[in-house]
Amino acid sequence: MTQMTDEKPSERRIDEADFLRIAKHLHRLTGIYLTAAKRAMVASRLRQRVKAVGLGSLTAYADLIHSPAGAAELEEMIQALTTNMTRFDREATQFAHFDAEVMPDLAARARAGERVRLWSAGCSSGEEAYSLGFRVLDHCPEAARLDLRILATDIDRRILERATGGRYAPEQLAPLSPLHRARYFDWPDGGDVATTGPLIGVDDALRAITAFRLLNLLSEWPFRGRFDVIMCRNVTIYFDAETQLRLWRRFFDQLEPGGVLYIGHSEVIRSEAPLDFDALGAGVFRKRGARLARVGPRFVGRSVSVSVSGSKPACQTVAIAAPVTGAKGRFAEWRIEGDL
Ligand SMILES: C[S@@+](CC[C@H](N)C(=O)[O-])C[C@H]1O[C@@H](n2cnc3c(N)ncnc32)[C@H](O)[C@@H]1O
Repeated sequence: MTQMTDEKPSERRIDEADFLRIAKHLHRLTGIYLTAAKRAMVASRLRQRVKAVGLGSLTAYADLIHSPAGAAELEEMIQALTTNMTRFDREATQFAHFDAEVMPDLAARARAGERVRLWSAGCSSGEEAYSLGFRVLDHCPEAARLDLRILATDIDRRILERATGGRYAPEQLAPLSPLHRARYFDWPDGGDVATTGPLIGVDDALRAITAFRLLNLLSEWPFRGRFDVIMCRNVTIYFDAETQLRLWRRFFDQLEPGGVLYIGHSEVIRSEAPLDFDALGAGVFRKRGARLARVGPRFVGRSVSVSVSGSKPACQTVAIAAPVTGAKGRFAEWRIEGDL
């Protein structure tokens, strides 16, 4: 995370023209929209980069990042200008919702052989993804042996290295329940950090179900399948309204019907979206519609009782219609029909 330093007033200055050139470029690359109020922050953070690349001014730096020779520096600039603030169990009511309303069904589906995918988009140093992981493993300790995985992505390569490392200072673990703190970290015997150094690592069970990848949310997404849960919190607050809207639409498309999107408490999905979501609480949205179920061919044409995770989770009797995709071995995907 980039921190403000004790800079001198002169280091907080940047010409308006240089600021606008840099701000426009950052916006084009990442969606991050810097208002004039961020001028001092930009000057302070980029002066360190000016020194690092051996240039004499922010004007020369703005020239560099607009030239082919500056391609490698762009990544450094993005890292310097992004805000990585995060913590475990941030916006705890959403994790309580995930724990009580979402995860039980996902665990049942994973145990029934279904593919279950969760995505922490803009994961920073990993606390959000691991906070999902605690609940996944609470409900499904055998998750690593099932097709249940958490993908966590960010644009900032350096912060992703920290996330993958999964090592945290004891005080960063303070928001966690004693159970999660004890269960999902590799504590030295007797909990004495003096013997392991200042950082405590997440345990292998969490690592086995979590993958971190570099991804700019504005780029093409390389996913083959959809997600059951997407968490994208405190990322779009830095974007302009148009980029936010585009992103909400893409998340909607990338969710399974019945899937849940969590956004930050200070983020909104404005009504012009308009997306077929049920708003379930602060920053919690469920995509309407029935999901595909994987059932054996012997159910075709019959009415069966299934547990569904649509907008009205319940056990209902539905008819299984014709296969949607071709049979895959013994099982195929069938659309569940009926008013879910
Ligand atoms: C403030 S952190 C939020 C972390 C976490 N989601 C949370 O709520 O605690 C925002 C993260 O979004 C990432 N980010 C910003 N723009 C991005 C983009 N265009 N694509 C992917 N990640 C981006 C930043 O690198 C940063 O790590």
